[in-house]
Amino acid sequence: MYKTNMKKYHTIVALVLLSYSCTTAEIPEAASITIDRKVTYERDIKPIMYTNCLTCHSAVNPRNGLILETYQQVKASASTGTLIQRMNDAANPMPQGGLLTPDKRALVDKWKSDGYLEN
Ligand code: HEC
Repeated sequence: MYKTNMKKYHTIVALVLLSYSCTTAEIPEAASITIDRKVTYERDIKPIMYTNCLTCHSAVNPRNGLILETYQQVKASASTGTLIQRMNDAANPMPQGGLLTPDKRALVDKWKSDGYLEN
């Protein structure tokens, strides 16, 4: 009886911890990366987009119609679209080849919390 209850208890604790770790940070493994400066589109985000996304999301044949060439386009996809979600979804990542490194994804996360600054 006691053993069964302890098992249940452990399962509940594990589930609580699991859901907690998934909701506290956009990027679990990048949560430990501290960026102690403001992140801007021009300096940090644009190079990530141009290097990793524009092969498929430029104005020429944009996949899914999604263009990520300008500040406004990237900001729109990050704030009202699924850009940040997809960049952190290991099961359905963008780029399709696999998740970018945690430091790059942490920059996008910080860009969001800084309020999507342009410069
Ligand atoms: C090799 C081509 C390719 C690359 C590189 C690529 N994408 Fe995509 N992307 C696609 C395709 C194809 C779709 C539509 C199918 C899907 O949603 O998986 C898509 C869909 C998306 C979507 C969801 C659909 C939408 O309209 O909002 C987002 C957001 C996105 N991509 C963002 C990115 C970002 C950000 C990068 C770079 C970090 C990136 N993609 C790199 C091919 C690519």
